[in-house]
Amino acid sequence: MTEQQTRTVSPRSMGTSLDRVDGAEKVTGRATYAVEHALDGLEAPLSLWLVTSTVAKGRVTAVEPAAALAHPGVTAVIDHTSAPRLAQTDNGELAILQDDRVGFRGQVVALVLAETSEAAREGAALVEVSYEQQPHEAELREDNATYRPEQVNPAMETDTDDGDVDAALASAERVVEQTYRTPYEHNNPLEPHATLAWWEEHEGREVLSMFDSTQGVHGVVQALAPMLGLEPDQVRVRAPYVGGGFGSKGEAHAHVMATALAARTTGGRPVRLAVTRQQMFALTGYRTATISHVRLGAGRDGRLVAVEHAVQEQTSVVREFAEQTAAPTRMMYAAPNRRTSHRLARLDVAVPSWMRAPGEMPGMYAHEVAMDELAVACGLDPIVVRERNEPDVDPETGKPFNRRRLLECLHRGADRFGWDTRPDEPGASLDGDWYVGTGVASATYPAMKQPGNSARVTSVDGGRYEVAIGSVDIGTGARTVLTQIAADALEVDPAVIDLAIADSLLPSASVAGGSSGTSSWGSAIVAAAQLFRSDHGARPDPGLHTTASAAADPAAEEHAFHSFGAVFAEARVNRWTGEVRVPRLHGVYSVGRVINPRTARSQLVGGLVMGLSAGLFEDSYRDPRFGHVVTQDLATYHVASHADVLDVDAEWLEEIDEVFTPMGSRGIGEIGIVGTAAAVANATFHATGVRVRSLPLTAEHFLKA
Ligand code: MOS
Repeated sequence: MTEQQTRTVSPRSMGTSLDRVDGAEKVTGRATYAVEHALDGLEAPLSLWLVTSTVAKGRVTAVEPAAALAHPGVTAVIDHTSAPRLAQTDNGELAILQDDRVGFRGQVVALVLAETSEAAREGAALVEVSYEQQPHEAELREDNATYRPEQVNPAMETDTDDGDVDAALASAERVVEQTYRTPYEHNNPLEPHATLAWWEEHEGREVLSMFDSTQGVHGVVQALAPMLGLEPDQVRVRAPYVGGGFGSKGEAHAHVMATALAARTTGGRPVRLAVTRQQMFALTGYRTATISHVRLGAGRDGRLVAVEHAVQEQTSVVREFAEQTAAPTRMMYAAPNRRTSHRLARLDVAVPSWMRAPGEMPGMYAHEVAMDELAVACGLDPIVVRERNEPDVDPETGKPFNRRRLLECLHRGADRFGWDTRPDEPGASLDGDWYVGTGVASATYPAMKQPGNSARVTSVDGGRYEVAIGSVDIGTGARTVLTQIAADALEVDPAVIDLAIADSLLPSASVAGGSSGTSSWGSAIVAAAQLFRSDHGARPDPGLHTTASAAADPAAEEHAFHSFGAVFAEARVNRWTGEVRVPRLHGVYSVGRVINPRTARSQLVGGLVMGLSAGLFEDSYRDPRFGHVVTQDLATYHVASHADVLDVDAEWLEEIDEVFTPMGSRGIGEIGIVGTAAAVANATFHATGVRVRSLPLTAEHFLKA
């Protein structure tokens, strides 16, 4: 394998709305998802059901399997006394059934295997688990979030402190000092998490094979293999089709290990598990609630002299995850004095994890509502306040931005949205029973390229090429976009590219996460294609291979890579009921080259809708007496649906980021959710004059005021 310096790719297919290459597969129902695979030459799979704890903290004192085993379909009940032992147990989320401890309500305490899914479910209900219960703490509060993590996701500094924030605030002409809150939120991809696993012997070695609904097949191998005492080449994971993830499938969760362990006990018979929607609320990650203490100090002219963002949020005793909520505050606006921090409550709760734009989403909500408050305090238009705080270089690193077109996004959006007709005073427009207002917020997301990606190009008969990389298309359109990148890098028509993805036997690929997939995998594909061409020319014989990864570009070290955007919202708040409607939502983005406008638009509009959903509805209610989330379904956990989503549109600035990737692109998966809830919140303030500082923006906030 070679590291290859890449050259910029000339666009032919890139920039066109090529139809999804797997579109027909999907709309005809031929696309096969994790538990739907028929396994030739193997017995029909057993169904697995997870028995989960009914206490938040304590010990399992007994698991009584007799009633379950008397069920005619049930073949086995596995608990911590009988489960296969793991070679490593430091990942407390994945090290299930290794001892009797219970770390949160909903944790896996037993497994039931049965001939059918129904029998497995009935069997699980018949397993009697006894506990020695201990007092638990499962609610985040300002007085218990005091623990300082070593770092925040993915590997950032916990705290930063530059200049003298306190002195600058003491002498500032205008100060905004407020606390903003975001709730627990749960990812709800359409396809629940699901795994199909079986063990075989190959040449005297054990091999674990899986189909898993995951955002990264290699990541699942890397997580599971050492824990199971296997070499990475003893685990094979495939994910040809995945029905969404948003981050919840970015890392293997306990159910994947449960399926692997259960399958180890069946003498080679496959085991399948489809996590229920209800169980997803405890087992597959969620966004922590956040408390953001923000202090902005500025001159009368709106120029910031100090920014402080102190975050409190939660993690789990079982495994640490620290959301990087203040991270965007570090680079967003110019201010000589700046301080950020993250403190956690370590609670007896399910393990928080990635949810679309971890960090940027709750952090920019808080920061961008605070900026709106600063505009009000200074009597300035909110766009003017942002203009006056535009930095020359990245305030965090001092490096020049690759591109920072935030103001262009704001100005373009203002034109499109009709911002110039906006009344200055809040609460000035009443249309029938509805207060009407508009709001704006900035968006940002880092541009990331992950290491460890390589791709293989093979010439095939008839002038075709197989292009192989183990990346996963979770529904974003990656399969289509990578086909376009490969075609342009090889200077051929996309119709002659056969893309092979989503198998850990293929060249290594990073996770479909951090909006880094297209940049990371695409750069590897370009490297392999360009090397193939220089080695084998334009008319290669069939059967020639080239495998390569993109070499690091030293020029890249000199820049700070971020994308930017501006979100405009119109909100209507009913004067009698407090109901909030959002008839218009418009995002303008600077994200580098857009490789496929159709799939890109879906990502950006999808992000805007998810931000709208967080703004208006999403909230995982807990019962502190038991320490669990009670809104465990889509009837009670409200996600925005068609009736809530009215005129939502996204556009982007023409751009080629020649510094960041050879494709000129930067990544688009997450920026759409960033800033959106703030724009909606700011619009409700403009409509009503009522400043709500916590999400979601439910009716009672406006009725109370
Ligand atoms: Mo995304 S939360 O990085 O999968």
